[in-house]
Amino acid sequence: MAKRVAIIGAGVSGLTTIKCCLDEGLEPTCFEKSDDIGGLWRFTEKVEQGRASIYRTVITNSSKEMSCFSDFPMPEHFPNFLHNTRFLEYLRLYAKHFNLLKYVQFKTTVNSVRKCQDFSTVGQWEIVRESDGTQKSSIFDAVMVCSGHQIEAYMPLESFPGIEKFKGQYFHSRDYKTPEEFQGKTVVIIGMGNSASDIAVELCQSAKRVCLSTRGGSWVMSRVYDNGYPWDTVFHTRFANLIRYFLPWPLLKWMTEQKMNQWFDHENYGLVPKNRFLMKEPVFNDDLPSRILCGAVVVKPVVKEFTETSAIFEDVTMEECVDVVVFATGYTVSFPFLNESVIKVENNRAALYKHVFPLHLEKSTLAIIGLIQPLGPIMPTSELQARWATRVFKVPKSIDELYGDKIKTRDFIDYLDELSDGSGAKPEIIPLLLKDPQLALTIFFGPCSPFQFRLKGPGKWAGARNAILTQRDHSLVASLLKIFGLFALLAAFFLSFYQH
Ligand SMILES: Cc1cc2nc3c(=O)[nH]c(=O)nc-3n(C[C@H](O)[C@H](O)[C@H](O)COP(=O)(O)OP(=O)(O)OC[C@H]3O[C@@H](n4cnc5c(N)ncnc54)[C@H](O)[C@@H]3O)c2cc1C
Ligand SMILES: *[C@@H]1O[C@H](CO)[C@@H](O)[C@H](O)[C@H]1NC(C)=O
Ligand SMILES: *[C@@H]1O[C@H](CO)[C@@H](O)[C@H](O)[C@H]1NC(C)=O
Repeated sequence: MAKRVAIIGAGVSGLTTIKCCLDEGLEPTCFEKSDDIGGLWRFTEKVEQGRASIYRTVITNSSKEMSCFSDFPMPEHFPNFLHNTRFLEYLRLYAKHFNLLKYVQFKTTVNSVRKCQDFSTVGQWEIVRESDGTQKSSIFDAVMVCSGHQIEAYMPLESFPGIEKFKGQYFHSRDYKTPEEFQGKTVVIIGMGNSASDIAVELCQSAKRVCLSTRGGSWVMSRVYDNGYPWDTVFHTRFANLIRYFLPWPLLKWMTEQKMNQWFDHENYGLVPKNRFLMKEPVFNDDLPSRILCGAVVVKPVVKEFTETSAIFEDVTMEECVDVVVFATGYTVSFPFLNESVIKVENNRAALYKHVFPLHLEKSTLAIIGLIQPLGPIMPTSELQARWATRVFKVPKSIDELYGDKIKTRDFIDYLDELSDGSGAKPEIIPLLLKDPQLALTIFFGPCSPFQFRLKGPGKWAGARNAILTQRDHSLVASLLKIFGLFALLAAFFLSFYQH
């Protein structure tokens, strides 16, 4: 009899998880709290409790080449970066193509997931969910948690003395939808992530004044990279990854900072990340530098204190007559339906084997999908996690007995390789070089697109080769030039060492 799998959530992660279950001959049932698919990507005017909430203008920061599922390329006419309505459209196409909707029970909230009595031998779970005010409970052989992690707003008010006296309006970025109501107002935005920057750029066109208050700054990048290519199709190639792996750390750090400062010098804008650690999650915003330059957005340090009407910053400057404070301070990870003994969140992190399986469960029958986001798109990441997890479900063992090692890296490509290795889908370039050199070279020098993980193994897709070869051509010559440039740099680096 097919194993029954409960899936919680029908966003990006939940949808691809349903498909992966079907591919492995498992029987999925997906519970979705709201009345539609899409999760975070379904914009609504009103904030819904328990579901991620975005502003009207959200555009993907990962390109369509990289942000699709591995056996379902985006329609040709879609632009490289997608408005949220377009991305939702893609999710609908995916769900329709693979006939996923019939496995989803809408308006059904999962309230609790508990181990069955004989869990240590059978590994089953009891799921209690609620719909239309009635609770139901049933037993499943496995559970895949796809409930998202941009739901519970993190708003550290205790770090902002005086906020209780503040007479203006303040709220979390989750509650921000459109700029209209802020016309003519003075706004302070706390934070320097993607949301903070987007909201600052959007508000500064109609607000009276916009301050962006940041603790450490951020690397701000353009979506448009070398020669006008989407940044991630250039950044995430196996070739670039290999170079990053082998370069001596100081050189890599230096080169990365050069690259980050090529567009504008972060020093001059007061934006150099305090923690200069190499790839502090960058912010993708094509407009922010020019808004700062024009004085429409003013960069400020941390707010030390609020008064009834003003904000006092750490550098003792003061912003008076503040009308609105937006806390773009991120989210707290939580799994309200799971007992702490199953998964414990500490410092906003959960201890998970390969970011998927809770440690120390007697049976590996519960997987968390889409919780980690390496510096790359979540779509292929969730998909590979689900492909791997569904294979593990077929022969559930305890995580402790199955695997001794821990995952080493958070790099996007390395992580995908590691996951796909577990399910036999990892592309092998060297053997491929003899059989199909053109494909092998494109895999190595071209963007590490999701299709690379559908060339072989279970779930192999006949269209994968073509999808890879018809990606926008990243000229081999440019890559070769880079290799030579790199050797020259390396040589210079080592020479300078020897001379000292
Ligand atoms: C502004 C913004 C921009 C982003 N841009 C990108 C981007 O360009 N590229 C990228 O890769 N990532 C981006 N992300 C990250 C984003 O998290 C992922 O793109 C993706 O939406 C995650 O999908 P998910 O299915 O894991 O979670 P979600 O989309 O949050 O879906 C979770 C679903 O689970 C349901 N649910 C939750 N709890 C329960 C329950 N107890 N019972 C039943 N159902 C439940 C919810 O209703 C929801 O439908 C962005 C995030 C934000 C905030
Ligand atoms: C969580 O699990 C522990 C140990 O199994 C149990 O004692 C406790 O009652 C559970 N808590 C909840 C909220 O279910
Ligand atoms: C895209 O933006 C979201 C929301 O701020 C963020 O969680 C994610 O890490 C970003 N992705 C990349 C590749 O920077």
